[in-house]
Amino acid sequence: MAVQGIDVDLVRAQFPALQRLSVGGEPAVFFDGPGGTQVPSSVIEAMTDYLSSSNANIEGEFETSAKTDEMIAKARSYGATFVGGSSDGITFGPNMTTLNFNLIRAFGRTLKPGDEIITTMLDHDANVAPWLLMAEDRGLVVRQVGVTEDLNLDLADLRAKLSDRTKVVAFCLASNAVGTLTPALEISELAHDAGALVWADAVAYAPHRRIDVEALGCDVLLCSPYKFFGPHLGMSWMRTDLAETLPAERVRPAGSKPPGHRFETGTQLHENIAGFVAAVDYVASLGEGDDLRGRLDSAYSAIQSREAEMADQLLGELRELPHVRVTGVQDADPSQRVGTFGLVVEGYRPALLSRALGAKGVYTWNGNFYAQGIVEHLGLDLEEGLLRLGLMHYNTESEIQRCVEQLGLLISAA
Ligand SMILES: Cc1ncc(COP(=O)(O)O)c(C=O)c1O
Repeated sequence: MAVQGIDVDLVRAQFPALQRLSVGGEPAVFFDGPGGTQVPSSVIEAMTDYLSSSNANIEGEFETSAKTDEMIAKARSYGATFVGGSSDGITFGPNMTTLNFNLIRAFGRTLKPGDEIITTMLDHDANVAPWLLMAEDRGLVVRQVGVTEDLNLDLADLRAKLSDRTKVVAFCLASNAVGTLTPALEISELAHDAGALVWADAVAYAPHRRIDVEALGCDVLLCSPYKFFGPHLGMSWMRTDLAETLPAERVRPAGSKPPGHRFETGTQLHENIAGFVAAVDYVASLGEGDDLRGRLDSAYSAIQSREAEMADQLLGELRELPHVRVTGVQDADPSQRVGTFGLVVEGYRPALLSRALGAKGVYTWNGNFYAQGIVEHLGLDLEEGLLRLGLMHYNTESEIQRCVEQLGLLISAA
Protein backbone atom coordinates (compact mmCIF):
# COMPACT_ATOMS: atom_id res chain seq x y z
CA MET A 1 0.00 0.00 0.00
CA ALA A 2 1.32 3.45 -0.89
CA VAL A 3 2.12 5.52 2.16
CA GLN A 4 -0.10 8.55 2.49
CA GLY A 5 2.07 11.58 3.21
CA ILE A 6 1.57 13.77 6.25
CA ASP A 7 0.01 17.16 5.58
CA VAL A 8 2.08 19.10 8.08
CA ASP A 9 -0.03 22.28 7.91
CA LEU A 10 -3.13 20.27 8.71
CA VAL A 11 -1.29 18.53 11.51
CA ARG A 12 0.08 21.71 13.04
CA ALA A 13 -3.28 23.45 12.98
CA GLN A 14 -4.51 20.80 15.44
CA PHE A 15 -1.88 21.61 18.10
CA PRO A 16 -2.58 24.78 20.11
CA ALA A 17 0.98 24.78 21.49
CA LEU A 18 2.47 24.89 18.01
CA GLN A 19 0.79 28.27 17.47
CA ARG A 20 2.80 29.70 20.35
CA LEU A 21 4.93 32.71 19.51
CA SER A 22 8.28 32.91 21.24
CA VAL A 23 9.95 36.01 22.62
CA GLY A 24 11.02 37.38 19.24
CA GLY A 25 7.51 37.03 17.78
CA GLU A 26 8.39 33.98 15.71
CA PRO A 27 6.63 30.66 16.34
CA ALA A 28 8.41 28.55 18.95
CA VAL A 29 10.31 25.55 17.61
CA PHE A 30 9.53 22.46 19.67
CA PHE A 31 12.56 20.19 19.37
CA ASP A 32 11.99 19.08 22.95
CA GLY A 33 9.74 16.14 21.93
CA PRO A 34 11.81 13.31 23.45
CA GLY A 35 11.11 14.92 26.83
CA GLY A 36 7.37 15.03 26.07
CA THR A 37 5.41 15.91 22.95
CA GLN A 38 2.73 18.53 22.39
CA VAL A 39 -0.94 17.50 22.30
CA PRO A 40 -3.64 18.10 19.70
CA SER A 41 -6.94 19.81 20.66
CA SER A 42 -8.79 16.48 20.44
CA VAL A 43 -6.77 15.21 23.41
CA ILE A 44 -7.39 18.34 25.46
CA GLU A 45 -11.11 18.16 24.65
CA ALA A 46 -11.34 14.47 25.56
CA MET A 47 -9.85 15.26 28.96
CA THR A 48 -12.16 18.19 29.68
CA ASP A 49 -15.17 16.24 28.30
CA TYR A 50 -14.44 13.39 30.65
CA LEU A 51 -14.18 15.74 33.62
CA SER A 52 -17.36 17.59 32.70
CA SER A 53 -19.53 14.66 31.66
CA SER A 54 -18.47 11.45 33.38
CA ASN A 55 -16.06 12.18 36.20
CA ALA A 56 -16.43 9.41 38.80
CA ASN A 57 -14.68 6.53 40.46
CA ILE A 58 -14.99 3.03 38.98
CA GLU A 59 -17.52 0.24 39.48
CA GLY A 60 -20.35 2.30 40.98
CA GLU A 61 -24.08 1.76 40.47
CA PHE A 62 -24.76 5.04 38.67
CA GLU A 63 -24.37 6.56 35.24
CA THR A 64 -21.13 8.55 35.44
CA SER A 65 -19.34 5.63 37.08
CA ALA A 66 -20.64 3.28 34.39
CA LYS A 67 -19.38 5.72 31.74
CA THR A 68 -15.98 5.77 33.45
CA ASP A 69 -15.86 1.95 33.39
CA GLU A 70 -16.78 2.03 29.71
CA MET A 71 -14.10 4.61 28.95
CA ILE A 72 -11.41 2.60 30.77
CA ALA A 73 -12.44 -0.61 28.99
CA LYS A 74 -12.15 1.25 25.68
CA ALA A 75 -8.73 2.58 26.72
CA ARG A 76 -7.52 -0.97 27.48
CA SER A 77 -8.71 -2.09 24.08
CA TYR A 78 -6.99 0.90 22.44
CA GLY A 79 -3.85 0.18 24.44
CA ALA A 80 -3.91 -3.41 23.19
CA THR A 81 -4.28 -2.32 19.57
CA PHE A 82 -1.59 0.30 20.07
CA VAL A 83 0.95 -2.32 21.20
CA GLY A 84 -0.37 -5.25 19.17
CA GLY A 85 -1.21 -7.50 22.15
CA SER A 86 -4.16 -8.55 24.26
CA SER A 87 -6.09 -6.02 26.37
CA ASP A 88 -5.87 -8.37 29.38
CA GLY A 89 -2.30 -7.26 29.99
CA ILE A 90 -2.83 -3.49 29.77
CA THR A 91 -2.07 -1.50 32.93
CA PHE A 92 -2.23 2.26 33.40
CA GLY A 93 -0.22 4.27 35.90
CA PRO A 94 1.05 7.78 36.54
CA ASN A 95 4.17 7.34 34.39
CA MET A 96 6.41 4.62 33.04
CA THR A 97 8.90 4.82 35.91
CA THR A 98 6.33 4.21 38.64
CA LEU A 99 4.73 1.41 36.66
CA ASN A 100 8.08 -0.24 36.06
CA PHE A 101 8.96 -0.13 39.77
CA ASN A 102 5.60 -1.81 40.48
CA LEU A 103 5.92 -4.48 37.82
CA ILE A 104 9.54 -5.24 38.67
CA ARG A 105 8.73 -5.60 42.36
CA ALA A 106 5.98 -8.07 41.48
CA PHE A 107 8.25 -10.06 39.18
CA GLY A 108 11.09 -9.87 41.72
CA ARG A 109 8.98 -11.74 44.24
CA THR A 110 9.25 -14.81 41.96
CA LEU A 111 13.08 -14.73 41.88
CA LYS A 112 15.68 -16.27 44.17
CA PRO A 113 19.23 -15.35 45.17
CA GLY A 114 21.72 -15.96 42.37
CA ASP A 115 19.18 -15.36 39.59
CA GLU A 116 20.48 -12.95 36.97
CA ILE A 117 19.08 -9.88 35.26
CA ILE A 118 20.49 -8.23 32.16
CA THR A 119 20.16 -4.46 31.68
CA THR A 120 21.90 -2.23 29.14
CA MET A 121 24.18 0.78 28.95
CA LEU A 122 21.77 2.41 26.48
CA ASP A 123 18.75 2.47 28.74
CA HIS A 124 16.99 5.24 30.62
CA ASP A 125 17.46 4.61 34.33
CA ALA A 126 13.76 3.76 34.68
CA ASN A 127 14.62 0.35 33.20
CA VAL A 128 17.86 -0.01 35.18
CA ALA A 129 17.55 1.38 38.71
CA PRO A 130 14.43 -0.67 39.64
CA TRP A 131 16.36 -3.84 38.72
CA LEU A 132 19.42 -2.78 40.72
CA LEU A 133 17.32 -2.07 43.80
CA MET A 134 15.40 -5.29 43.48
CA ALA A 135 18.66 -7.19 43.02
CA GLU A 136 19.97 -5.68 46.24
CA ASP A 137 16.83 -6.75 48.13
CA ARG A 138 16.80 -10.31 46.78
CA GLY A 139 20.47 -11.17 46.24
CA LEU A 140 20.30 -11.17 42.45
CA VAL A 141 23.10 -10.51 39.97
CA VAL A 142 22.70 -7.67 37.44
CA ARG A 143 24.83 -7.68 34.29
CA GLN A 144 24.99 -4.70 31.96
CA VAL A 145 25.30 -5.10 28.19
CA GLY A 146 27.56 -2.57 26.51
CA VAL A 147 27.29 -0.75 23.21
CA THR A 148 28.98 -0.77 19.82
CA GLU A 149 30.78 2.18 18.26
CA ASP A 150 27.54 3.56 16.78
CA LEU A 151 25.88 3.29 20.20
CA ASN A 152 23.76 0.26 19.51
CA LEU A 153 23.50 -2.72 21.79
CA ASP A 154 26.44 -5.09 21.54
CA LEU A 155 24.88 -8.44 20.69
CA ALA A 156 28.16 -10.32 21.22
CA ASP A 157 28.28 -8.91 24.75
CA LEU A 158 24.64 -9.92 25.28
CA ARG A 159 25.39 -13.47 24.12
CA ALA A 160 28.35 -13.64 26.48
CA LYS A 161 26.26 -12.46 29.44
CA LEU A 162 23.24 -14.70 28.89
CA SER A 163 23.10 -18.00 30.73
CA ASP A 164 20.54 -20.38 32.13
CA ARG A 165 20.57 -18.20 35.26
CA THR A 166 19.27 -15.17 33.29
CA LYS A 167 15.64 -14.48 34.16
CA VAL A 168 15.06 -11.28 32.23
CA VAL A 169 16.63 -9.10 29.56
CA ALA A 170 15.55 -5.50 30.08
CA PHE A 171 16.33 -3.12 27.21
CA CYS A 172 15.00 -0.16 25.26
CA LEU A 173 13.57 -0.33 21.75
CA ALA A 174 14.97 3.15 21.09
CA SER A 175 17.44 5.32 22.97
CA ASN A 176 15.99 8.53 24.37
CA ALA A 177 19.43 10.18 24.35
CA VAL A 178 20.97 9.29 20.99
CA GLY A 179 18.08 7.84 18.97
CA THR A 180 19.44 4.35 18.27
CA LEU A 181 16.93 1.66 17.34
CA THR A 182 17.97 -1.60 18.97
CA PRO A 183 17.70 -4.99 17.18
CA ALA A 184 14.72 -6.02 19.28
CA LEU A 185 13.85 -9.23 17.51
CA GLU A 186 17.39 -10.59 17.73
CA ILE A 187 17.56 -9.63 21.39
CA SER A 188 14.21 -11.31 22.11
CA GLU A 189 15.26 -14.50 20.38
CA LEU A 190 18.52 -14.66 22.31
CA ALA A 191 16.70 -13.96 25.58
CA HIS A 192 13.98 -16.53 24.95
CA ASP A 193 16.53 -19.18 23.88
CA ALA A 194 18.14 -18.69 27.30
CA GLY A 195 14.72 -18.99 28.99
CA ALA A 196 14.61 -15.29 30.00
CA LEU A 197 11.76 -12.82 29.75
CA VAL A 198 11.95 -9.83 27.39
CA TRP A 199 11.19 -6.57 29.22
CA ALA A 200 11.08 -3.70 26.73
CA ASP A 201 11.07 0.04 27.31
CA ALA A 202 9.19 1.53 24.33
CA VAL A 203 8.95 5.08 25.70
CA ALA A 204 11.34 6.61 23.14
CA TYR A 205 10.08 4.32 20.37
CA ALA A 206 6.34 4.92 20.53
CA PRO A 207 6.21 8.40 18.93
CA HIS A 208 8.24 7.17 15.96
CA ARG A 209 7.60 3.50 15.23
CA ARG A 210 4.70 1.07 15.33
CA ILE A 211 4.87 -1.18 18.37
CA ASP A 212 4.06 -4.83 17.85
CA VAL A 213 4.73 -6.94 20.93
CA GLU A 214 4.09 -10.15 18.99
CA ALA A 215 6.48 -9.35 16.16
CA LEU A 216 9.10 -7.94 18.54
CA GLY A 217 8.81 -10.90 20.92
CA CYS A 218 8.16 -8.88 24.08
CA ASP A 219 6.83 -10.36 27.31
CA VAL A 220 6.48 -6.98 29.03
CA LEU A 221 6.49 -3.55 27.37
CA LEU A 222 6.11 -0.07 28.79
CA CYS A 223 5.47 3.31 27.23
CA SER A 224 4.33 6.81 28.17
CA PRO A 225 1.42 8.44 26.30
CA TYR A 226 2.83 11.89 27.03
CA LYS A 227 5.65 11.04 24.64
CA PHE A 228 3.20 10.30 21.83
CA PHE A 229 0.87 13.29 21.76
CA GLY A 230 -1.15 12.31 24.81
CA PRO A 231 -1.34 13.52 28.40
CA HIS A 232 1.05 12.67 31.23
CA LEU A 233 0.46 8.98 31.85
CA GLY A 234 2.22 5.61 31.82
CA MET A 235 1.00 2.40 30.24
CA SER A 236 2.30 -1.13 30.22
CA TRP A 237 1.40 -4.39 28.59
CA MET A 238 2.36 -7.86 29.69
CA ARG A 239 1.58 -11.38 28.51
CA THR A 240 -1.78 -12.44 29.89
CA ASP A 241 -0.38 -15.39 31.84
CA LEU A 242 2.08 -13.08 33.60
CA ALA A 243 -0.59 -10.47 34.27
CA GLU A 244 -2.76 -13.17 35.84
CA THR A 245 -0.09 -14.72 38.01
CA LEU A 246 2.70 -12.32 39.03
CA PRO A 247 2.32 -11.51 42.73
CA ALA A 248 1.21 -7.87 42.40
CA GLU A 249 1.61 -5.61 45.41
CA ARG A 250 -1.89 -4.33 45.98
CA VAL A 251 -4.54 -3.56 48.54
CA ARG A 252 -6.64 -6.60 49.45
CA PRO A 253 -10.14 -5.45 48.42
CA ALA A 254 -9.04 -4.27 44.94
CA GLY A 255 -10.56 -6.17 42.03
CA SER A 256 -8.42 -8.42 39.85
CA LYS A 257 -10.28 -8.21 36.54
CA PRO A 258 -9.04 -7.67 33.93
CA PRO A 259 -5.60 -9.05 34.88
CA GLY A 260 -3.74 -5.82 34.03
CA HIS A 261 -5.80 -4.04 36.70
CA ARG A 262 -4.00 -6.10 39.36
CA PHE A 263 -0.99 -3.78 38.97
CA GLU A 264 -2.97 -0.54 39.16
CA THR A 265 -2.59 0.84 42.66
CA GLY A 266 -5.24 3.27 43.83
CA THR A 267 -7.51 5.48 41.78
CA GLN A 268 -6.22 6.05 38.28
CA LEU A 269 -5.76 9.27 36.29
CA HIS A 270 -9.11 8.86 34.54
CA GLU A 271 -9.06 12.11 32.59
CA ASN A 272 -5.57 11.28 31.32
CA ILE A 273 -6.71 7.82 30.31
CA ALA A 274 -9.53 9.51 28.33
CA GLY A 275 -6.85 11.71 26.75
CA PHE A 276 -4.83 8.62 25.88
CA VAL A 277 -7.72 7.23 23.81
CA ALA A 278 -7.88 10.51 21.90
CA ALA A 279 -4.09 10.46 21.41
CA VAL A 280 -4.27 7.02 19.79
CA ASP A 281 -7.11 8.26 17.59
CA TYR A 282 -4.97 11.26 16.66
CA VAL A 283 -2.03 9.07 15.60
CA ALA A 284 -4.41 6.79 13.68
CA SER A 285 -5.85 9.82 11.89
CA LEU A 286 -2.48 10.27 10.18
CA GLY A 287 -3.04 6.97 8.37
CA GLU A 288 -5.65 5.17 6.33
CA GLY A 289 -7.34 1.84 6.84
CA ASP A 290 -10.53 0.03 7.69
CA ASP A 291 -9.85 -0.31 11.37
CA LEU A 292 -7.72 1.18 14.13
CA ARG A 293 -4.94 -1.35 13.67
CA GLY A 294 -4.70 -0.67 9.92
CA ARG A 295 -4.77 3.09 10.41
CA LEU A 296 -2.00 2.89 13.01
CA ASP A 297 0.13 0.74 10.68
CA SER A 298 -0.30 3.25 7.89
CA ALA A 299 0.16 6.27 10.17
CA TYR A 300 3.49 4.99 11.46
CA SER A 301 4.72 4.36 7.90
CA ALA A 302 3.94 7.99 7.13
CA ILE A 303 5.57 9.19 10.37
CA GLN A 304 8.68 7.16 9.64
CA SER A 305 9.06 8.56 6.09
CA ARG A 306 8.52 12.14 7.18
CA GLU A 307 10.91 11.91 10.11
CA ALA A 308 13.61 10.21 8.01
CA GLU A 309 13.52 13.06 5.49
CA MET A 310 13.80 15.65 8.25
CA ALA A 311 16.57 13.68 10.00
CA ASP A 312 18.51 13.61 6.75
CA GLN A 313 18.14 17.37 6.35
CA LEU A 314 19.16 18.05 9.96
CA LEU A 315 22.23 15.82 9.73
CA GLY A 316 23.25 17.44 6.45
CA GLU A 317 22.98 20.93 7.92
CA LEU A 318 24.74 20.00 11.16
CA ARG A 319 27.68 18.63 9.16
CA GLU A 320 28.33 22.17 7.93
CA LEU A 321 28.84 23.47 11.47
CA PRO A 322 32.28 23.43 13.10
CA HIS A 323 32.73 21.79 16.53
CA VAL A 324 29.45 19.82 16.30
CA ARG A 325 29.60 16.05 16.69
CA VAL A 326 26.50 13.88 16.38
CA THR A 327 26.82 10.87 18.66
CA GLY A 328 25.81 7.37 17.55
CA VAL A 329 24.37 6.49 14.15
CA GLN A 330 25.71 9.02 11.64
CA ASP A 331 23.06 8.83 8.94
CA ALA A 332 19.28 9.03 8.86
CA ASP A 333 18.76 5.32 8.08
CA PRO A 334 15.29 4.69 9.55
CA SER A 335 16.16 1.09 10.34
CA GLN A 336 18.96 2.28 12.62
CA ARG A 337 17.72 5.43 14.30
CA VAL A 338 14.85 7.75 15.09
CA GLY A 339 15.17 11.52 14.81
CA THR A 340 16.58 12.07 18.29
CA PHE A 341 20.10 13.51 18.18
CA GLY A 342 22.53 13.77 21.06
CA LEU A 343 25.10 16.41 20.14
CA VAL A 344 28.48 17.20 21.57
CA VAL A 345 29.60 20.70 20.66
CA GLU A 346 33.31 20.79 21.46
CA GLY A 347 34.12 23.64 23.84
CA TYR A 348 30.47 24.56 24.54
CA ARG A 349 28.35 23.60 27.52
CA PRO A 350 25.04 21.98 26.52
CA ALA A 351 23.13 23.94 29.17
CA LEU A 352 24.37 27.27 27.84
CA LEU A 353 23.63 26.32 24.25
CA SER A 354 20.15 25.11 25.15
CA ARG A 355 19.47 28.28 27.13
CA ALA A 356 20.67 30.52 24.30
CA LEU A 357 18.61 28.57 21.76
CA GLY A 358 15.61 28.77 24.09
CA ALA A 359 15.99 32.54 24.23
CA LYS A 360 15.67 32.51 20.44
CA GLY A 361 12.51 30.41 20.61
CA VAL A 362 14.17 27.07 19.79
CA TYR A 363 13.33 24.59 22.54
CA THR A 364 15.87 21.81 23.04
CA TRP A 365 17.03 19.67 25.95
CA ASN A 366 20.37 19.41 27.66
CA GLY A 367 21.73 17.06 30.29
CA ASN A 368 21.74 13.29 30.69
CA PHE A 369 18.00 12.66 30.23
CA TYR A 370 18.41 9.93 32.88
CA ALA A 371 20.26 7.89 30.25
CA GLN A 372 23.15 7.64 32.66
CA GLY A 373 24.94 4.66 31.10
CA ILE A 374 25.37 6.13 27.64
CA VAL A 375 26.37 9.58 28.85
CA GLU A 376 29.05 8.03 31.06
CA HIS A 377 30.15 5.76 28.21
CA LEU A 378 30.66 8.84 26.01
CA GLY A 379 33.03 10.17 28.66
CA LEU A 380 30.84 13.20 29.32
CA ASP A 381 30.20 14.85 32.62
CA LEU A 382 26.92 13.39 33.87
CA GLU A 383 25.46 16.76 34.79
CA GLU A 384 26.52 18.48 31.58
CA GLY A 385 25.57 15.62 29.26
CA LEU A 386 24.49 16.32 25.71
CA LEU A 387 22.50 18.87 23.72
CA ARG A 388 19.47 16.96 22.43
CA LEU A 389 17.42 17.85 19.35
CA GLY A 390 14.29 15.77 18.87
CA LEU A 391 12.27 15.68 15.66
CA MET A 392 8.59 14.76 15.63
CA HIS A 393 6.31 14.45 12.61
CA TYR A 394 4.86 17.89 13.42
CA ASN A 395 8.22 19.65 13.01
CA THR A 396 9.14 21.33 9.76
CA GLU A 397 12.02 21.87 7.39
CA SER A 398 12.11 25.58 8.16
CA GLU A 399 12.31 24.87 11.90
CA ILE A 400 15.37 22.74 11.23
CA GLN A 401 16.92 25.60 9.29
CA ARG A 402 16.16 28.05 12.10
CA CYS A 403 17.65 25.77 14.73
CA VAL A 404 20.86 25.09 12.83
CA GLU A 405 21.22 28.74 11.89
CA GLN A 406 20.90 29.82 15.53
CA LEU A 407 23.30 27.12 16.67
CA GLY A 408 25.77 28.26 14.02
CA LEU A 409 25.51 31.87 15.20
CA LEU A 410 26.14 30.84 18.80
CA ILE A 411 29.21 28.87 17.82
CA SER A 412 30.67 31.57 15.58
CA ALA A 413 29.88 34.35 18.07
CA ALA A 414 31.92 32.82 20.88
C1 LIG B 1 13.38 5.82 27.14
C2 LIG B 1 12.66 6.29 28.35
N1 LIG B 1 12.29 5.39 29.27
C3 LIG B 1 11.63 5.74 30.38
C4 LIG B 1 11.31 7.04 30.63
C5 LIG B 1 10.57 7.39 31.87
O1 LIG B 1 9.26 7.69 31.52
P1 LIG B 1 8.27 8.41 32.55
O2 LIG B 1 8.61 9.84 32.52
O3 LIG B 1 6.90 8.12 31.97
O4 LIG B 1 8.46 7.79 33.87
C6 LIG B 1 11.69 8.03 29.72
C7 LIG B 1 11.41 9.45 29.99
O5 LIG B 1 12.04 10.33 29.47
C8 LIG B 1 12.37 7.64 28.55
O6 LIG B 1 12.74 8.54 27.63
